[in-house]
Amino acid sequence: MKSTQELAAEQAAYWNGPGGKMWLAAYERIQRGIAGFSEVVLKAANAQAGERVLDVGCGTGGTTAELAKAVGASGHVLGVDISEPLIGAARAQKLANASFEVGDAARHRFEAQAFDLVFSRFGVMFFADPVAAFQNIRRALKPAGRLVFLCWRPPSENPWGAVPMRAAQPHLPPMERPGPEDPGQYAFGDRARVERILSEAGFVGLSIEPVDLMLNQGKDVADVLERIGEFGPLARAFKDAAPEQVVQAKAAIGEALKPYATADGVKLAGACWLVRARPA
Ligand SMILES: C[S@@+](CC[C@H](N)C(=O)[O-])C[C@H]1O[C@@H](n2cnc3c(N)ncnc32)[C@H](O)[C@@H]1O
Repeated sequence: MKSTQELAAEQAAYWNGPGGKMWLAAYERIQRGIAGFSEVVLKAANAQAGERVLDVGCGTGGTTAELAKAVGASGHVLGVDISEPLIGAARAQKLANASFEVGDAARHRFEAQAFDLVFSRFGVMFFADPVAAFQNIRRALKPAGRLVFLCWRPPSENPWGAVPMRAAQPHLPPMERPGPEDPGQYAFGDRARVERILSEAGFVGLSIEPVDLMLNQGKDVADVLERIGEFGPLARAFKDAAPEQVVQAKAAIGEALKPYATADGVKLAGACWLVRARPA
């Protein structure tokens, strides 16, 4: 079993290396795919004029910009991310009322009791020690502040990720399977685990609601196949595979996606938890 330090170092290396690079390259398409989920979490966050907001794992700062609009000139948003290249892209937006810092949100020295809202869109599932990380985040919230984030439910409830992966797997070399509690995309899939982490980290008033929406993966199957494996577990699997294995895997994914092709795109279901809490 890997130690907490090893897991944290792996995440930092990934997001500063291949993960950050792939996220940047695929960002526009990812953004379009998850647009419905973004709307839901931003609405739930309900950022108000004048508020101070922290966007955890802000990536290229897409949601930071939306939050900055909502808080207006009298408010401020701080985006924090472990990835230097992604923070570079976020800073390039030159937002007047937002700033960005490179840092591990699990250990970053945030100003204590400074934020009305701590927000994250898919940026909190990568902590090696999530309880310690959320304790650190809680200390940054004002006593009357709120935490609002979105995370994925398990792969079995997310056909947009599971269908291509299941089709590709027989054609690819065996993949390293993360443990259910290892940091990663689906690490917060288990609702009971999310509840336990937040309670142990000193949050109360927990609300963990399912959000189910369709993800549009591309205009048709050929369009999806052109870019499949740009990011995420399939990208890692393709990297370790021989070129002919990738060709076979893509052909199998194409077959598996056919039933999901509609007149306005290839649509597969996605499932998230919308999580809200406040400091104890
Ligand atoms: C799936 S991406 C989401 C990015 C962004 N929230 C968005 O929706 O566009 C996950 C982000 O979390 C960041 N991240 C991972 N571990 C982190 C940590 N310990 N502290 C801060 N950011 C982290 C990654 O660098 C990456 O930008």
